[in-house]
Amino acid sequence: MLPKDFDEKMKKLLKDEYDNYLSSFNNPSVKSLRINTNKISVDDFLSIFPYKLESIPWTSDGFYFEDENVSKDLNYFAGLFYLQEASAMLPAELLSIDEGDLVLDCCAAPGGKSLKLLSKLNNTGLLVSNDISASRANALLRNIERQGYSNFFVTINDTKTLLKKYPQTFDKILVDAPCSGEGMFRKEKHLIKDWTIRGNDYYSNIQKEIVDDAYKMLKDGGIMVYSTCTFDESEDEDIIQYLLDKYNDLKLLPIKKYPGFKDGKNNIGIKLFPHLIKGEGHYVCLLQKGDKKSNNYSKYLVNKPEFNFFKYIKKDFYNGEFTTINDHLYFVPKLNTQGIRVLRSGLLLGELRNNDLKPSTALALSLKRDEFLNVIDLNEELANKYLKGETIMFNSSINTYVLICYKKQPLGFGKINNGQIKNLLDKGWIKR
Ligand SMILES: C[S@@+](CC[C@H](N)C(=O)[O-])C[C@H]1O[C@@H](n2cnc3c(N)ncnc32)[C@H](O)[C@@H]1O
Repeated sequence: MLPKDFDEKMKKLLKDEYDNYLSSFNNPSVKSLRINTNKISVDDFLSIFPYKLESIPWTSDGFYFEDENVSKDLNYFAGLFYLQEASAMLPAELLSIDEGDLVLDCCAAPGGKSLKLLSKLNNTGLLVSNDISASRANALLRNIERQGYSNFFVTINDTKTLLKKYPQTFDKILVDAPCSGEGMFRKEKHLIKDWTIRGNDYYSNIQKEIVDDAYKMLKDGGIMVYSTCTFDESEDEDIIQYLLDKYNDLKLLPIKKYPGFKDGKNNIGIKLFPHLIKGEGHYVCLLQKGDKKSNNYSKYLVNKPEFNFFKYIKKDFYNGEFTTINDHLYFVPKLNTQGIRVLRSGLLLGELRNNDLKPSTALALSLKRDEFLNVIDLNEELANKYLKGETIMFNSSINTYVLICYKKQPLGFGKINNGQIKNLLDKGWIKR
C-alpha cells in the first residue's frame, strides 16, 4: 500500500499515465546482470552462459534474465558478471571515460556503477570508489576484487573530507546520491516505510551538499553524472537547477533517449519509470564544468619485486608502485591519500611470509588464465568443492603453486603438494 501523500504526488506528476504506473506494481520486478567485459567479451559470455538472456536496450553489456539459479552460477564467483538492476546501469553507461582518466564515484557502495566505470577505464587511470559507510564499503571492495581490478582505491569518507584533499582533481565524477528511493518501491517494499519517516527534504539537503562538493572536485572540462532512484523533483531536477544557478560554467549535456525514457522537468535530465521501461525507477542527469580538457595519459612499466612467487606471474604491472603495509604487499596506483580514510589501496597481492609471498585471492582474480605459469582447470563439481575451501586430490609428483580455473577463468590459488591441491582461498572468499 503506497502512502497517500506519495500517491497524490505521483497522480500530479504522471497524470493520465498514473493508472499504468500503479498497475506496474502488480508485475514482478525484473532481474538483470551486467557482464564484466574486463574478463570476457559479451559474445564469449553469451556462448558459455547456460541461462536465457535478453538485451537491455540502453547498455551493450546488460541483460535481463528470469532463472533463479543465475545468482548461484559459478561464473559469478569467477567475476564474469554482477547482478544489477537495469535502470541502475544507465548512470555509469552515460559517463564517457577516456583511458587514463582520474574518476571519482562519490557514493559507491555496493558498487554496481563503480564496476562499470572500472571496465570503461580498461585497466588505465584510477577510480576512487568512496562511500560514507564502512560496512557498505566492505561489500564494495569485495565486488571490485571479485571482478579483478587493481587501479582503484576504496575510501570511507563524506564528500566534505574528500573535497578538502581533492579540489579540482577528477576528470569524471559519478554522484549516485542517497535518496528516498521512490523508484525502488516495487522491488524493496521496506523503502516505503522509510519514505514516510524521512520524506524528501531530508535527502535533498544532503544531495545539495554532495553535488556541491562534487562540482568543486571536478577539473575544468570535467564531466559529472548525477543520479537517484527517486522521482521527486526536489531530489532530482531541483538539485541540478540549484547547481546550475550557483555555477555559471556548468552546462547540461544531452542524453540519448531510448523508448520509454521521459524528459525531466524543464528538460533537466531524464526519468525512467517502471511502467514505461523494463526495470525500476531512476533519474539521471549529465553535466560538464567548463570545456577545457587535457588528458595526457601515458603508460609506464613497473619492475616486479624480487620475491620468488613473481616468477610464476607472467603479467606486467603499469602505472603504480609495489608497497608493503603491515606485512602485506599491494600494487598501488599513484594518488596521495594522506588524511583520507582508505579501506583498500589498489590490489592486495598477498601476505609476506618467510621472504616470499602467500598470494591473495584478489591477485588470482586479477589475472588472466595465461598470466600464470601453472594452471589447473576444474570441472563444476571440483570447482564447487574448491570454492567451499576443500582440498582437492590431484595425482602429481611436483610441488608448485597453481592458478585454479573454472571454464578458463581464475577462481583462486592452490598449491600442489603430496598428491593433493592445498586450497589457498583467503578465508573471506570461502563460499558458504
Ligand atoms: C544509492 S546508494 C549508492 C549505490 C551505488 N552507487 C551502486 O551503484 O551500488 C547511496 C550511497 O551513498 C552513501 N552516502 C550517503 N551519504 C553520503 C555522503 N555524505 N558521502 C558519501 N557517501 C554517502 C550511502 O552509504 C549509500 O551507500
